Amino acid sequence: MDRKVLLPLFLLLAAGENLDASLSKDDQCDATGDCALQALQTKGLSTEDGAGCPAGLGRSVGGTPCRPCPEGTYSEEGSAVCTRCTAGTWNDRRGAGKKSLCEPCPVGTWSSQEGAISLLACMECPKGTFSNRTALGSQSLCDRCPGGTWSDVAGASSESVCQKCTAGKWSPQVGADRESVCVQCPMGRFNVEEGAAEPTKCKACKAGTWSAQEGANTTDVCTPCSAGRWSPATGATTEATCAECSQGTWNDAKGSSTVRSCKKCGPGTYSEDIAATNANVCLPCPEGTYQPILAAGNRTLCIPCAVGNYSKSVGVAMCKRCPFGSYGNSFGLTSCVKCPKGTWTRAQGSIRADQCSSWVKPQAGQMEEEKDAEPEEDIKEEFGGLTGQ
Ligand SMILES: *[C@@H]1O[C@H](CO)[C@@H](O)[C@H](O)[C@H]1NC(C)=O
Ligand SMILES: *[C@@H]1O[C@H](CO)[C@@H](O)[C@H](O)[C@H]1NC(C)=O
Ligand SMILES: *[C@@H]1O[C@H](CO)[C@@H](O)[C@H](O)[C@H]1NC(C)=O
Ligand SMILES: *[C@@H]1O[C@H](CO)[C@@H](O)[C@H](O)[C@H]1NC(C)=O
Repeated sequence: MDRKVLLPLFLLLAAGENLDASLSKDDQCDATGDCALQALQTKGLSTEDGAGCPAGLGRSVGGTPCRPCPEGTYSEEGSAVCTRCTAGTWNDRRGAGKKSLCEPCPVGTWSSQEGAISLLACMECPKGTFSNRTALGSQSLCDRCPGGTWSDVAGASSESVCQKCTAGKWSPQVGADRESVCVQCPMGRFNVEEGAAEPTKCKACKAGTWSAQEGANTTDVCTPCSAGRWSPATGATTEATCAECSQGTWNDAKGSSTVRSCKKCGPGTYSEDIAATNANVCLPCPEGTYQPILAAGNRTLCIPCAVGNYSKSVGVAMCKRCPFGSYGNSFGLTSCVKCPKGTWTRAQGSIRADQCSSWVKPQAGQMEEEKDAEPEEDIKEEFGGLTGQ
């Protein structure tokens, strides 16, 4: 199409004349004499239905003359109709002859309107979203800030506008528009990372520790169970989770995670203290008693030596048999009773005075017969010269 035709038309537009008004009057020149159409017709353009128009012009109905395309539309060379600028674009000039004259909505904006006639049709991408692309045809095409982030800025053109939830918080929400979507890690947990999108980023305090603080951003909040206690639970939220070492045991370390950390009082001793923090709580059973088990938790577990047995020292696991030449005739003895001078017993562990006989003589092999016989030294010490006989 010849430029000669278009030229006067654009001159008219540029001059701000009310072309539309002039052309709307049934294609007749009005009183003011703006006769663009006439000019076109005299140049031999057809008004036939469907025939193409010059670039920038189009027919509203078949058979009507080609007119300048209104704002928000365009018509390329040979098209009979004006086409609306697509959603996401706009055009405030009449007679646009190329699609590219539809301006894209700038980055950070969108428009779902077809045939938009002004930049004002381009709406800002809402808070929580952004777009670095132009000509978005719908709000849903704005990119959303990812989980763990938020933005209270509308019309943003870059993801950098999305602010991360601070350490100690997390948010599953995509496209969040305010910081309050970031929720605190629960008690018993902490998170050192910014921008957490999953609750699993809140790490549990390890076993042997606990924390009652919400929104913790450091492992330092995990307080170790004190000495004398232990806790197998991860993510514990209260000190009460720390169990006490039971009676008969103790533990001098903080932050213990297993009951095995409670050390046991040895045989011959007992402790009635709970949550004990050192070995001094393990008290020796008194003389005349024994205690064979580990971790005895009550003094009543110190058992009096049986008749025939004795214990002269505190804290023993087992009583000893009364040695040859002596007997033990009651429970809980701390020493045995010597046979009268000139008499002797047949066996260790004798329990009655009448087991002492004058005709029994100590023999060389007698000591070995009894597996746990007293060492000779001990007998000497306790019974003086008796063994010498
Ligand atoms: C838009 O963002 C994408 C993804 O972040 C990036 O790859 C691309 O280069 C950006 N484009 C512009 C024009 O900034
Ligand atoms: C952790 O939280 C405290 C307040 O609870 C704050 O003062 C500190 O800056 C935070 N540290 C990090 C690394 O976020
Ligand atoms: C020790 O055992 C006795 C008898 O079973 C009981 O009455 C007492 O309360 C116990 N002592 C402690 C400290 O548990
Ligand atoms: C006496 O002591 C011996 C040696 O320690 C032990 O084997 C035995 O069982 C005790 N006897 C009784 C009745 O407790």
